[in-house]
Amino acid sequence: MKLTRRTVVATALASPLILRTARAANDLRASIKVDTQNTRGAIDRKLYGNFIEHLGRCIDGGVFQEGSRLSNAAGYRRDVLEAVRGLDVSLLRWPGGNFSSNYHWLDGIGPRDDRPPRLEMAWGTVESNRFGTHEFLDYAEELKTEPYICANLGTGTWTEAQQWVEYCNSAEDTAVTRMRRKNGRKDPWKVTYWGLGNEMDGPWQMGHRSAEDYGKFALEAAKLMRWTDPDVKLIAAGSSNYSAGVDWSLWNRTVVEHLQNYIDYLAIHLYVGNPNDDFGEFLASSRLMDDKIETTAKVIAGVLAGRTDGRKVHIAFDEYNVWYRARGDKQRGRRILEERYNLEDALVVATLLNSLVNHADVVKIANMAQLVNVIAPIFTNDEGLFLQTIYYPLQLFARNAHGNSLKLEVDVPGYNTKQWHDVPYLDVSGAIDGNTLVLNVVNRHKAEGIDATISLADKTFAGTLGVDEVNGPDVKAANDFGKTVVRVQSRTARAQGKTLEHRFPAHSFTQLKAQLA
Ligand code: AHR
Repeated sequence: MKLTRRTVVATALASPLILRTARAANDLRASIKVDTQNTRGAIDRKLYGNFIEHLGRCIDGGVFQEGSRLSNAAGYRRDVLEAVRGLDVSLLRWPGGNFSSNYHWLDGIGPRDDRPPRLEMAWGTVESNRFGTHEFLDYAEELKTEPYICANLGTGTWTEAQQWVEYCNSAEDTAVTRMRRKNGRKDPWKVTYWGLGNEMDGPWQMGHRSAEDYGKFALEAAKLMRWTDPDVKLIAAGSSNYSAGVDWSLWNRTVVEHLQNYIDYLAIHLYVGNPNDDFGEFLASSRLMDDKIETTAKVIAGVLAGRTDGRKVHIAFDEYNVWYRARGDKQRGRRILEERYNLEDALVVATLLNSLVNHADVVKIANMAQLVNVIAPIFTNDEGLFLQTIYYPLQLFARNAHGNSLKLEVDVPGYNTKQWHDVPYLDVSGAIDGNTLVLNVVNRHKAEGIDATISLADKTFAGTLGVDEVNGPDVKAANDFGKTVVRVQSRTARAQGKTLEHRFPAHSFTQLKAQLA
């Protein structure tokens, strides 16, 4: 890979300011300048959400496995619960995904043995309905995570969506809430986050509509849902169809135009992969996420520009991940999407998380898709589980990258790929929470460590420095049952004064956590 040299590059919108100075082509030194007053806005905890869908073994055999010696009385896998707790999941999306577009929630309440099995067309299976609204919301309570329900705006009706909100949130005495009480839940759960369908721009979606038709249909659902509970926050289905020739931004604009008075978020999705086995190209994938966010933010701002009421619509990046190997895999005739992750995938996930933090002013929700077995950080069999490589960057971000997102000044050499120009070898985001500074750094270089000088403009390092590093013997290294070769290695160091020298090893993700004074 050839090093690039540029004098000044400043990225658009909310990305970190990146300054590069010309120097010898083989000089891999970097500098990261931190001014704790230079922030772009609060990092919403809901950036560290996850997603469970009725798909393959995500719920059935992952989250929930009745009769397993590893499950508790409610049917939840105890080992999975513990692994999920390690991710500090802030927001859990359910029941899909594509599944949600033909899911009729009334099928999933009442005594489990009486619930009707239904043909499931999104993933080609039979849905038992043994895991339904109560099982999901009780699971979220058990995890102390915020639930996010995606309503069926594919084959579902306005009334069905409205009554789901009523069932979950109303304290009134109605026929619908009597059903809830009869099913064992006296008080409403008060679910705040509701999706107005999933990927409705995709021809693969059951009930797919044009942007106009979706905008009109979703508006009527939104009104009824909001009038049932004024506290709900509504998330419209934004673009996910990035096929050649599709103007995905036009979908977003049309949807926001129709729904601007009712929605709080517009959802967008992105999956990336390495089909040509090109490490440099793959590691630059976060550029795609930057682009989706920045383009969508501009579209939203454009639609809302004429308003004087300060109305805001944020981005919900409610599906993102690496996903390209297990696209068509099947087990006993049903699609299972059991992607196995290696170190390079974990590094890409860390860059995607950097992109989310570097756009924290406009992105306020994000959900890694998904949580268990299906394109997931946690992988089970009937005997136990192991943590996939992508578990570790998500865990480090969710636990530590809080407070305000920092605009950093990063001076680092870059490289060119077939698709991208001047991709910085160090991909960086920063967070400041009181006196705690967190820097998230991916070294995209496959072979070389990079020495960096980290300097503070307005503070000093106050002693202890936590260093958490995700790395492994090579970029294809992967974990498995009984084998953990990619994990977090943690150590502490000392940091004092205004500057700190740190070497970021080849193909690594490092999170530095420093107390400042
Ligand atoms: O997460 C897997 C699938 O990817 C989801 O069901 C769908 O929304 C997306 O296309």
